[in-house]
Amino acid sequence: MILIIDFGSQYNQLIARRVRENHVYCLIEPPTITVAAIRRLNPEGIILSGGPSSIYEKDSPKIHPAVFKLGIPVLGICYGMQFMMSALGGTVRRAGRREYGFAELRIKRQSGIFQDIPKKTQCWMSHGDSIQRLPRGFTLMGSTENTAMAAAAHPGKRLLGVQFHPEVAHTPQGMKILRNFLFGICGCKRSWSMKSFARQTIQDIRQTVADKKVILGLSGGVDSSVTAMLLHQSIHKQLTCIFVDNGLLRKNEADKLKVTLKQHLNINIRFVNAAARFLKALKNITDPEKKRKIIGRIFMDVFEAEAKKIKGAEYLAQGTLYPDVIESVSAFGGPTSIIKSHHNVGGLPGKMKLKLIEPLRYLFKDEVRLLGKELGLPAELIWRQPFPGPGLAVRVLGEIKHKRLRILRDVDDVLLEEIKNAGYYNKLWQSFAVLLPLKSVGVMGDQRTYENIVAIRAVTSKDAMTADWAKLPHKLLGKISNRIINEVDGVNRVVYDISSKPPSTIEWE
Ligand code: XMP
Repeated sequence: MILIIDFGSQYNQLIARRVRENHVYCLIEPPTITVAAIRRLNPEGIILSGGPSSIYEKDSPKIHPAVFKLGIPVLGICYGMQFMMSALGGTVRRAGRREYGFAELRIKRQSGIFQDIPKKTQCWMSHGDSIQRLPRGFTLMGSTENTAMAAAAHPGKRLLGVQFHPEVAHTPQGMKILRNFLFGICGCKRSWSMKSFARQTIQDIRQTVADKKVILGLSGGVDSSVTAMLLHQSIHKQLTCIFVDNGLLRKNEADKLKVTLKQHLNINIRFVNAAARFLKALKNITDPEKKRKIIGRIFMDVFEAEAKKIKGAEYLAQGTLYPDVIESVSAFGGPTSIIKSHHNVGGLPGKMKLKLIEPLRYLFKDEVRLLGKELGLPAELIWRQPFPGPGLAVRVLGEIKHKRLRILRDVDDVLLEEIKNAGYYNKLWQSFAVLLPLKSVGVMGDQRTYENIVAIRAVTSKDAMTADWAKLPHKLLGKISNRIINEVDGVNRVVYDISSKPPSTIEWE
């Protein structure tokens, strides 16, 4: 296992990805982690990430320098290197010239992390401070034109630092440099795989839960389905899933999901139809935040009432993912991590006095999909695009009425069919329709129409934090627009949303 210390770099998740791509397990922790906790984790190596601070700023993040005396190899990247050098007696100063972007790295010693790396290679720099003097025992390993001390090592103590970012694709030899660290220096084994993760997690769940009962809110999305599958394979009949139909799902979705979930997840699921209750509470509500709050509150009430019927339940399982966990831990914050609850079930564990189990909390989305595959989930569940908890309520802008939901469902159905037929469904993060609270004039046959406008939103993204509008072929967009206007009563105009996130968001409300 590799421990990554997060000094606030925008790239720290990328470091974790690179390590895991090499089949080595890793964790990201804030610098406030204690040396005793590191000893308990017993990592094969430690990576200190970059970060936006200057080490001579008063409140810059620091890890206890005893970390360098544990006998565990440490690789410092950018700020991580500067911190290491400064903590061990070197000097760091504001650089005469800042260095951002590509630089040519001239390697002085082709050994250690630079084993088999060409003497001259490109690297990616992003720093305003530089190392002026190395601590005793360190040797210079490489330089760039603007940075004399771009890489250094203390081979005896297995302490290494690079000023550039090996984790980004702009450093072409970066992956090889990281591999040299993982395998050459730390002696890691390529043992992290979804198979081993699944086996270990199933064992852990069995140990934690013992003979107690577990409840899970199942939405049919990939995260909750994979969580259900993991729990089912661990504790079988002790698991009960609750599926709440809030009346805000897509066309025939509740019925289709019922069949798919029953067929593929041979588990105990309670389906609760609370559509009428949700729609009644949403009557006359147009404010997006009010809609979300109402839906959240009713969901909790419905879920709690159903959960109470399951006598003796002690645990609530959630499909929280690693990016949520990381985002909720500040690089400069305390050692306790505040877990961001799912939008759908926020607040439930506390209210219901249940203990939480989050078996996916160390996985990224694409790893969850791999895990789903490993556990035998069908492709149609693994590759479902994300769907927001408040459902179509945040896609019918303005007031939510039966008729408006019907229009949006029909539009969405045509859109998804075309996106799937064109082979785009799995390539897009999301593709959906939004019903605007506006009408526009059109002409159909020889008649004037005054009807609804729908917007099509299709985005590519890795993690929903940022997203780009999808450059779908004009021919496909034309066909979608044509079919929607011809087939869905009440729509006479289709527009395509060409905004990215940020500054827009993926959903319109
Ligand atoms: P935004 O609109 O914030 O959405 O760019 C980012 C991602 O989150 C989804 N989303 C939600 N998911 N409950 C959820 O489970 C919610 O309340 C919610 N709101 C947005 C959205 O579909 C996108 O994938």
